[in-house]
Amino acid sequence: MKIFLTGGAGYIGSITTECLLDEGHDVVVFDNLEQGHREAVDSRALLIEGDLRDRDAVRKAMMSAKPDAVMHFAAYALVGESMDDPMKYFRNNVAGGVHLVEAMLAADVKKIIFSSTCATYGYPDRVPMTEDLPQRPVNPYGESKLMFEKILTWAQDREGIQSVFLRYFNACGATDQYGEDHDPETHLIPLVLFVAQGKRDKVKIFGDDYDTPDGTCIRDYIHIVDLAQAHILAVTGDHVGPFNLGNGSGYSVKQVIDVAREVTGHPVPAEIAPRRPGDPDRLVASSEKAYEVLGWKPRYPDLKDIIAHAWSWHQSHPDGYRA
Ligand code: UFG
Repeated sequence: MKIFLTGGAGYIGSITTECLLDEGHDVVVFDNLEQGHREAVDSRALLIEGDLRDRDAVRKAMMSAKPDAVMHFAAYALVGESMDDPMKYFRNNVAGGVHLVEAMLAADVKKIIFSSTCATYGYPDRVPMTEDLPQRPVNPYGESKLMFEKILTWAQDREGIQSVFLRYFNACGATDQYGEDHDPETHLIPLVLFVAQGKRDKVKIFGDDYDTPDGTCIRDYIHIVDLAQAHILAVTGDHVGPFNLGNGSGYSVKQVIDVAREVTGHPVPAEIAPRRPGDPDRLVASSEKAYEVLGWKPRYPDLKDIIAHAWSWHQSHPDGYRA
């Protein structure tokens, strides 16, 4: 298939691009390179530099690519920043998404796989979380992703655009070539590995008084290659609607740090810091629907493998993509 992939210079988009190409698909990447990296775009893909907020640019790129389907990763994704500047999130993640759908209609493209998030659920009533839980986002980032899910539901109903929403839990890990390089970096695993690399003195644990066995927050860490594989299953199959993507097993912040100590052989000093606003105690996926309907099965469910792959990429890219 030929895929028009927005955000292909970012972390999840670049690795999905690599996996699609490895399986013989064609990929046209549409990315403004504001947060992504040119070096993260596989040389086998065609890169079109453009911004989703530029309606004509998206339309022109879509018309020239004439893809079979769209995978939509490009978005702002910092929860804290979204609280400070919500309109930035709605303009890019919602209005930009509308431009993408309009371009699809103009080019007669009828399938989209959308990067959604567990942040659309807010504080869950129960874990493991199934797709039918109420969606009550607690920040503009999660709200912007939920709004675009709804827009796609109407695009499916009124315009016949087949839409799949993949609600990711905590994406992590790397391939040999591509990995996680955000600026600023806010995610736990890369920050822990920065300590092991000597780039930081210690990692902060945001709160140890949560309602969990060791008092630190529990998350569901899922390997990026497994996420990429779910996209390929979604685009090549005949599916619609939401799928949660996680391992179904949660690890606490302290457990993540312990595994990183084991993998890196570094003591990784940690200190307890105040809670980060908006962090739920536990976010753990039920991915039963993805297993049964998509036929998805994570290849790297073990946190040790996930951190080992991330560690290997950080060691071979000590300054990220700024080699
Ligand atoms: N954490 C620390 N110290 C740090 C960084 C993180 O203790 O220096 C903790 C967080 O408080 C959280 C856990 O580690 O409990 C994981 O934090 P991340 O920032 O790595 O990931 P989040 O769970 O906050 O974020 C993920 C996705 C977001 C998505 C969110 C939904 O990365 O895109 O889940 O809640 F919005």
